[in-house]
Amino acid sequence: MSETQTADAHGETIDEGKRDFIYIATGAAAAAGAASLGWPLVAQMGKAADTLAAGSIEINLANVAEGQQLKMLWRGVPVFVRHRTAKEIAEAEKVNVDSLPDPETDDARLVAKPDGKVDPRFLVMVGVCTHFGCIPVGEAGDFDGWYCPCHGSHYDTSGRIRKGPAPKNMVIPDYTYISDTVIKVG
Ligand code: FES
Repeated sequence: MSETQTADAHGETIDEGKRDFIYIATGAAAAAGAASLGWPLVAQMGKAADTLAAGSIEINLANVAEGQQLKMLWRGVPVFVRHRTAKEIAEAEKVNVDSLPDPETDDARLVAKPDGKVDPRFLVMVGVCTHFGCIPVGEAGDFDGWYCPCHGSHYDTSGRIRKGPAPKNMVIPDYTYISDTVIKVG
């Protein structure tokens, strides 16, 4: 299937083949939207969906290829799990943190494994714009991270707000590594 590119209202070029989200408010509407859009949830889940909706989800990072982003539904909100490329990691790490609207190092946005080390390849965050709750598009915007087309917020490859009206970085959910490759969110 061929992919096409269009420009949105803010002049951003959007790859139609990657625009697998529509932009939905948070809460119940987001959950309903996720279900209707058929997110690629099932293959990554190890528990019944009703259990997952109420509690925690386990994600095997070994199933997420480099350059791929999973979108999971957790407690009614989308969670992004991105396997970042070396270029994306380098971009995230080279930023002058003091210049950021919401200063955070890339490392501070990662959770350590049982051996105490972080794996910068995997970024896990709540995929909700911190302005008014739309769902940002991946691999878009001025910083190669995420772009929220609702009002034009640009996030970098660490999910940190860099430009636009959103006041804060995208949120890192409560998660832990339960093995070298499996995380538990919630
Ligand atoms: S909701 Fe994302 S920029 Fe306003």
